[in-house]
Amino acid sequence: MNKTIATITLIALGTAALAHGGVKNKDVLARMEVMKTIGEQMKVLGAMAKGQTAFDAAAANAALTEIAAQSAQIAPMFETRADDPKSEALPIIWAQWDDFATLASASETTAAALAGTITAKADLGRALGQLGGTCKACHSKYRE
Ligand code: HEC
Repeated sequence: MNKTIATITLIALGTAALAHGGVKNKDVLARMEVMKTIGEQMKVLGAMAKGQTAFDAAAANAALTEIAAQSAQIAPMFETRADDPKSEALPIIWAQWDDFATLASASETTAAALAGTITAKADLGRALGQLGGTCKACHSKYRE
């Protein structure tokens, strides 16, 4: 297993349990679903990179396309402030909205630029590194 990739994937996904049970605010639930979908696509890429699943270029590029599409939903989903006790979103998101939106768009453009570039298993580490960096840039500031 490639340790760097495993670490990057962990950082990107976070270690918190993905428990949506008990989330009452439907806007919070909707934005969590967007993130969860992004996380699932990252796992598809991570599992291939680690050799847990067979390399499949089409599936990898499709995962990147899906991450780009879902990332385009981040800003619209968060724009109106919504709170829930189960949410991991930090209130400074709305005090520093432009910065948050810029970080969201970085994930989108990075995923979109990478989509279609995966032709060999060796491409996955670079893609995960670049993309994971954009997740981490936001999570480290705006997620508990
Ligand atoms: C612009 C900021 C931003 C970017 C970029 C971002 N995230 Fe998130 N992410 C958040 C915030 C904020 C939360 C917490 C949402 C909440 O609990 O209300 C979150 C939560 C999550 C969760 C937990 C969702 C759940 O089930 O509760 C996962 C998984 C996740 N992000 C994966 C990713 C991955 C993978 C990327 C990069 C491809 C990424 N995120 C990019 C801000 C971001």
